[in-house]
Amino acid sequence: MRLLLTTSQGIEDITGREAASLMEKLGVPFRVEEKPLGVEGRLLLEAGEAYYTDEKGRKRELSIATYLNENSRLLHRVILEIASEKFGGIGEEEPETALKRIKEFVSSLPVERFVKVSESFAVRPFRKGEHRITSLDISRKVGEAIFERLSRFGSPKVNLDHPAVIFRAELVGDALFLGIDTTGDSSLHKRPWRVYDHPAHLKASIANALIELAKPDGGPFIDPFCGSGTILIELALRGYEGRIIGVEKYRKHIIGAKMNALAAGVLDRIEFIQGDATKLSQYVGSVDFAVSNLPYGLKIGRKSMIPGLYMDFFGELAKVLEKRGVFITTEKRAIEKAMAENGFKIVHHRLIGHGGLMVHTYVVE
Ligand SMILES: C[S@@+](CC[C@H](N)C(=O)[O-])C[C@H]1O[C@@H](n2cnc3c(N)ncnc32)[C@H](O)[C@@H]1O
Repeated sequence: MRLLLTTSQGIEDITGREAASLMEKLGVPFRVEEKPLGVEGRLLLEAGEAYYTDEKGRKRELSIATYLNENSRLLHRVILEIASEKFGGIGEEEPETALKRIKEFVSSLPVERFVKVSESFAVRPFRKGEHRITSLDISRKVGEAIFERLSRFGSPKVNLDHPAVIFRAELVGDALFLGIDTTGDSSLHKRPWRVYDHPAHLKASIANALIELAKPDGGPFIDPFCGSGTILIELALRGYEGRIIGVEKYRKHIIGAKMNALAAGVLDRIEFIQGDATKLSQYVGSVDFAVSNLPYGLKIGRKSMIPGLYMDFFGELAKVLEKRGVFITTEKRAIEKAMAENGFKIVHHRLIGHGGLMVHTYVVE
């Protein structure tokens, strides 16, 4: 089977390693391809069949898609691939021509093999890049093609609100993907524990990628700008056994972070401190790992405070950090200056897609 996996741009390699380790646990042969058809934030997983033995000793097939939905920390969606195809030049084409091409292609696919005709369906679109067609155009055309094709085998039903089967049609640049979305309407990065919604929270998938980059080994771990606690809660949910500490300036967010940790069942694993990250050494003597998404100061007026804030924070961090730090921010110049002047060495840099921006991510020692 071929699964199209989605995640954030810039963490495909880390997500691929997670998928590989989950497949190894299942003991199935597999192959992972990063960025199929050159599309960022996507992976293609080809896997053999997996089985388990039920309580009566019978051999039963295990759904790899379900297994990934339940066990991945980095994926957004798991899509059973029906087709992946390059549509060269689709971006410049007249809307009518582009949609006709898409419809002809989808009509030729054996979609009936993937669904029961009696089950209701909907098409959810995703579009990125320069096109003269909209995502609504895509979902309508693909829906039409699937409906007509399924009509040959029975009486298909469309249900846009509560479909039994969700087809996902993605047009990214000139790559078209069609598949069955096994994840459902809510992306996996939207964690059920998030009862307090911080206005600038980090996606849980990216939080896990930052944790992977930090490679914490059981030593004390801190997020000095912890907001609603995403990084710390995800770390605790991984079963981390060392100290987990969060610092946050505002009471409202600290209370929210505690509510989230409570909902996640890990409140007793995290020490939350309401405090100022530029006075870090007042709260902790030493920590091995520091991972954080720093305030970007998107609001005018706050932005001018960023260089000073970063300078003071990295000055304090230098007093307490023993091993590695991982930081994500849009403020490239301010962070690089603050890290350099406080004696930190950048050992890795990458860009990660977050909230529509490519954000700078640094691993420092
Ligand atoms: C980008 S947000 C972090 C969001 C967090 N990762 C989450 O997922 O909820 C940055 C946080 O830093 C906090 N903050 C700003 N200045 C601070 C300071 N001097 N000390 C500690 N926290 C601060 C802000 O209140 C904000 O919650």
